[in-house]
Amino acid sequence: MAMTTAYNGLAHEWDAAAGVVYRPLARSLVAASPVPLAGRLVLDIGSGTGAVAQAAAARGARVVAIDRSTEMVSYRSGQGWPVVVADVLALPLRDGVFDAAVAGFLLNHLPPGPALVELVRVVRLGGAVLASTWAGGQRDSAKAAIDAVVASWGWVPPAWYQAMREQVKQVSGNPERLTVTARQAGLAFVRAWVHREDLGLLSSHAVVAYRLATPHIAPWVGTLDPPARAELVRQALVAVQPHAPGWRPAAVLLAGRVMSQPS
Ligand SMILES: C[S@@+](CC[C@H](N)C(=O)[O-])C[C@H]1O[C@@H](n2cnc3c(N)ncnc32)[C@H](O)[C@@H]1O
Repeated sequence: MAMTTAYNGLAHEWDAAAGVVYRPLARSLVAASPVPLAGRLVLDIGSGTGAVAQAAAARGARVVAIDRSTEMVSYRSGQGWPVVVADVLALPLRDGVFDAAVAGFLLNHLPPGPALVELVRVVRLGGAVLASTWAGGQRDSAKAAIDAVVASWGWVPPAWYQAMREQVKQVSGNPERLTVTARQAGLAFVRAWVHREDLGLLSSHAVVAYRLATPHIAPWVGTLDPPARAELVRQALVAVQPHAPGWRPAAVLLAGRVMSQPS
């Protein structure tokens, strides 16, 4: 499976299981905006099932949601914002039309520089660009515990995920490097920092369900019959127990302003 199709067939599971992690992170990202979003036109790019769109709309923004996956971006299309299927690297949008562009966990999927250039292009002067990614550096102990169980059952990370981790994360997961990349893309007043999201007392069940719903693992889990799947979940619950509840996943949040347009 390629990265381009990794989210196919995943919208419901993603929204239900991964959403308990991504929705709070989307609220934290939107809250970090350097400009007020109420009444403003905000692009949620790499929208998935709309975690950022929901968070921005809750702050009074008018939202347009874009994603490369029709299924993901259509999942909550009844919520009142227009949805568009497009690639972040070739947005079918005029220059400077948005007051802000927000990319929740998109820049960890592809080289961040060209994507940030495109986000800067569609935001007006004085507007904002916001992005979140997973932090690099020390391996997340809860994710590592679950991945080790899944690997012991024969799961092998897909090539696109390996490439993402080995090539993209060097920049996307590092606040200093992401800051440099964002400045080169034309952003000003750039801030990037590691944010540990307080998910409250998320149960071990919820942490396991989240991890098994991610696009690099979910298709493989889907190949298991129900008894095997139940046993895998049981083992993953035992493994993650020391790390949850109280798990606070580490993200990198990025915020900057568009103070000049690329020539
Ligand atoms: C990790 S999900 C994040 C979804 C949502 N922003 C959130 O925070 O929950 C990443 C999303 O980015 C989308 N995506 C990946 N590459 C993309 C690209 N080049 N252009 C547009 N969307 C892309 C995927 O289809 C997926 O829905």
